[in-house]
Amino acid sequence: MGVVSPIREALAIHGGAPVRKTFLPYGHQSIDEADIQAVVSTLRSDWLTTGPKVAEFEEAFAASVGTAHAVSFSSGTAALHGAAFAAGLQPGDEAITTPMTFVATANCVLYQGATPVLADVSPDTLNLDPGQTAAKITPRTRAILPVDYAGHPAELDSFLDLAERHGLTIMEDACHALGAEYRGRRVGSIAHMTVFSFHPVKHVTTGEGGMVTTNNSQFAETLRRFRNHGINSDARERQKAGGWFYEMTFLGFNYRLTDVACALGIQQLGKLEANLARRREIAARYAASFREFPGVIPPAVRSEVNPAWHLYPIRLDLARLSADRAEIFRALRAENVGVNVHYIPVHQHPYYRERFGFKSGDYPAAESAYERLISLPMFPGMTDEDVNDVVRALQKVATHFGR
Ligand SMILES: Cc1ncc(COP(=O)(O)O)c(C=O)c1O
Repeated sequence: MGVVSPIREALAIHGGAPVRKTFLPYGHQSIDEADIQAVVSTLRSDWLTTGPKVAEFEEAFAASVGTAHAVSFSSGTAALHGAAFAAGLQPGDEAITTPMTFVATANCVLYQGATPVLADVSPDTLNLDPGQTAAKITPRTRAILPVDYAGHPAELDSFLDLAERHGLTIMEDACHALGAEYRGRRVGSIAHMTVFSFHPVKHVTTGEGGMVTTNNSQFAETLRRFRNHGINSDARERQKAGGWFYEMTFLGFNYRLTDVACALGIQQLGKLEANLARRREIAARYAASFREFPGVIPPAVRSEVNPAWHLYPIRLDLARLSADRAEIFRALRAENVGVNVHYIPVHQHPYYRERFGFKSGDYPAAESAYERLISLPMFPGMTDEDVNDVVRALQKVATHFGR
């Protein structure tokens, strides 16, 4: 990747030429010919859903994260709902999670009629803070949902310790973190249940899709039934047995992932290692470049983890800049760099404010980070030139507003 020279041109937002002619999104899927062929051949097969590709994908996925069971779902959100059900969440129960996440993490607790309780994040990683979490445990607490924000694993050992002491279930939201390692082990093999998403910007995509991994066979059995109406056998087993009998034993949903989607997932999983390697290469290049830029703070990485880099969220040091986040964001977008913001904290959404009475100041670490966060483009299909463009655009904008 080339050397970056200082730039003093007019910003695109002020009428200057943008760094890029075309818009670079913050995330994008990588689909190749083998992916397309796998989908086409499944479309020509006998099974569009509830067929052999589902088990094949689940087994390959379980092997890739090093866990006993993987149960596929129609989305990451459905997978979170399944995990909340399997953890036994019900009205009157509380589950503790982070404000610095996509709303689906907290919503799954509400789907079960239970109450999400938020605890603030650690200021460096923006992951759920174990000390803040411990302070929120009550006799009603039943589960903790740490999120591996941006692909940086949460402090899983501390949460498992809390779980042991208080009899809780750890449902890790690893929707950002497929392939991330915590103390040398892949996430997905550590928490009681771990949830993944296969949305197109994630490491592996099936269009929409999700997975729960677990080493607990009882959780796995419950998850399989939950995604299939609460019914105790699947269509293929019945067809094989030539039978008709099935029983619904609890109220479940149709959250099944199709064979068409699983065929794509199997192919995508084969490219996971290359995908991770490229994301890590881009992250290293960003971190090395940004140290010199005024007001730009790269994301922190703790020594015990190897992140999966779903996102690359920088933080602005606003004291060193003469513009706020909104203006820097607009300036980068004008340079055709597709920045984004992850996340508006959960408690600041109107639904949560109105239903639970949350207010500004409740979670200072998450709120202070939110004011300063900008996610830069991060996906394996980025060329070296794309990466250079992001570096140049950030240098141009930070230098302009730096003081
Ligand atoms: C942290 C987190 N949790 C849950 C989800 C929900 O996943 P899905 O979009 O597959 O339903 C997402 C998706 O963006 C996410 O980022």
